[in-house]
Amino acid sequence: MSPFILEWLNLLIRWFHLIVGIGWIGASFYFVALDFSLKAREHQKKGVLGSAWEVHGGGFYHTEKFLVAPPELPKDLIWYKWEAYLTFASGIALMIVQFYWHADLYMVDVNVLDIAPQTAIIYSMVSLAAGWFIYDAICKSSIGQNTNLLMLVTFLLIMAASYFYTHVFSARASLIHVGAFIGTIMAANVFSIIIPNQKKIVASLLNGQKPDARYGKIGKQRSIHNTYLTLPVLVMMVSGHYPLLSNHPQAWLLVGLIIVGGAILRHLIIKHEIHAPLKSYVWTLPVIFITLAAAMYMTMPASTPVGQKQAGDIISDKAVMGMINQHCISCHAITPSHESFDQPPKNVVINSIESIRKFKDLIHANVVQADTMPLGNETNMTQAERDQLAAWLAAQE
Ligand code: HEC
Repeated sequence: MSPFILEWLNLLIRWFHLIVGIGWIGASFYFVALDFSLKAREHQKKGVLGSAWEVHGGGFYHTEKFLVAPPELPKDLIWYKWEAYLTFASGIALMIVQFYWHADLYMVDVNVLDIAPQTAIIYSMVSLAAGWFIYDAICKSSIGQNTNLLMLVTFLLIMAASYFYTHVFSARASLIHVGAFIGTIMAANVFSIIIPNQKKIVASLLNGQKPDARYGKIGKQRSIHNTYLTLPVLVMMVSGHYPLLSNHPQAWLLVGLIIVGGAILRHLIIKHEIHAPLKSYVWTLPVIFITLAAAMYMTMPASTPVGQKQAGDIISDKAVMGMINQHCISCHAITPSHESFDQPPKNVVINSIESIRKFKDLIHANVVQADTMPLGNETNMTQAERDQLAAWLAAQE
């Protein structure tokens, strides 16, 4: 497929993925907040647990929650499920056009693990599916009865996945896979648990039986998991833009901080939304601050001795240009010669000493601090070359 068509596919699928993803997360946030804002009121209908008054977009809304279900089912019941399914489907499609299509460039890094591109794709598919089955089995086991233990075990499962991905895939592919791993669990929660249980409740209502409250409870547990996983997932999904995260040698530990910090941030948002007394959740602030500080500390650039190198150690402009011609120009030219690119990626054209100086900081971030470039280290740039480039970059003003 031509890079042109692939690029358009990528853009359209990504756009779609964002739209349905926002729909999913928006609805999920809304219902969690709604649940907490329900109040039992005088003269409410039979079977109503509580209701909420809301105002939005010029209208007033009065929403009632029935536990377990209303006595009679309305014909035009609205189900919230397609947002989740489509987010998952478009996520997988994006995984294919962005990663599987050029697995050699985007997924494999021989410095991490020397695997064939096809092997990388199989690892990806099998691990995503396995993640769901393991998580689901844990929830259904006796561990699932204990909320705190379940939370801990789920966290450890995600940490194990992070360790696996960061030790098998390139930096570019690893954290996004952690995101896909969690996202798959979230979508499958909706598809295999939340919606089927809701359907069982509907079925017993239609049969004139009293629905089993257990189904609602199980669905709620999964739904709450989804809520707390939402914010960390978003960080994973954009992590590729931040080599400081994705390229960190202990990126999997950063994932742990992101999950803890993100889940607690979500807790804070919910508590704030429902106007809970601040003292009931004030503890979240120092914890979020500590996780953020720890992540920043971990990613702090090492104070490289590069700046103090002797002038004699620094290679000539010509040698640097030679290095760029060898390792970068096939992609970062005005018209790339590399078969996968029609345009210079990210508009970064490096074809002269001036342009190297211009992109000095970005080059430092992607070649020295991280080894995201050359992409997939296709041209086998060595550590010695990176050190030489670092010294030269440090000497430029
Ligand atoms: C095989 C093609 C290829 C080669 C070779 C390559 N790059 Fe890249 N480069 C890319 C792609 C693709 C991107 C965009 C990455 C993305 O979307 O995250 C990129 C992005 C960049 C960026 C911008 C990063 C940003 O965050 O905006 C810089 C800087 C860069 N490359 C520098 C280099 C340097 C320096 C070399 C040589 C040492 C090099 N690249 C070699 C494909 C390549």
